[in-house]
Amino acid sequence: MGGIEDTGARRPPPCAPLPQTTTTPRTGQRALRRRADHLTPQGLSAPLEHRRRRLCSRGAGGVTLCRAADGQSARPPYSAERHIATLALMSSPAAEETRALHERHAPSLEAFEAVYSHSEIVWRIAEELLNSRNDTDIDRDLVRAGSLLHDIGVYRLYGTDGNLDHKKYVRHGLLGHEILAAEGLPETLCRFCSCHTGVGLTRDDVLCQQLPLPPADYLAITEEEKLVMYADKFHSKTTPPKFLTANAYATYVSRFGHDKVDAFTLLRKTFGEPDVHALAAFYGQALTE
Ligand SMILES: [Fe+2]
Repeated sequence: MGGIEDTGARRPPPCAPLPQTTTTPRTGQRALRRRADHLTPQGLSAPLEHRRRRLCSRGAGGVTLCRAADGQSARPPYSAERHIATLALMSSPAAEETRALHERHAPSLEAFEAVYSHSEIVWRIAEELLNSRNDTDIDRDLVRAGSLLHDIGVYRLYGTDGNLDHKKYVRHGLLGHEILAAEGLPETLCRFCSCHTGVGLTRDDVLCQQLPLPPADYLAITEEEKLVMYADKFHSKTTPPKFLTANAYATYVSRFGHDKVDAFTLLRKTFGEPDVHALAAFYGQALTE
């Protein structure tokens, strides 16, 4: 998830000022299409219906996303061995493979929509930041794959009632690492999950905040890991989802200590800032400033 939900169990003090949230009006053709999408008589927008059909036709491991008319699972036979053998060869799976992973692990269409849409936005932000840089040492394909997969562990936190377990949310990174490792993906990719929370979690953070994680450092090390972690801070999967400015996130993260503010400041200097006003308008989502 985005930055607001990523930084652990601590809550703001009672008097802490909350960032001001403004709703950016939906503008442009995309926003108009979105409005029209939600007026279809089936109760699902055209894109959602399309995705539902794709989910049904592709199937997922362990979770029945839809059923055929006879009540049996509509999922086709699935070769886990072949899938793992294929993924093991991928250091940077393409967008289609990452999407297939989401579809396989999402417990519901709603969860898929929330997590995958956010992941696509994180990639868009990271891509914008990459495009603004002159040095091109960063592995673009790896950033894309990391962006699209970093939150896959969130699916494990949905209960049978469809609700997210917010108390254990901080575990989603580690859970995502486990999912990708079980899928046969390399450590290089797994680390995007376990090392993107907040601006990095240290062993001291885990112990002092009594986080439900094995005591260890969960820190972004490579430039690719840092970029995905940073891009993630500008969008949140809250209901409804929203964008955040860099100042809004800096205000938020200040409750976790000056060292976290300093770490975020360094990331801002390193990667610059995305145009979140334009992004919020494009996606028709709120912006916290
Ligand atoms: Fe995220």
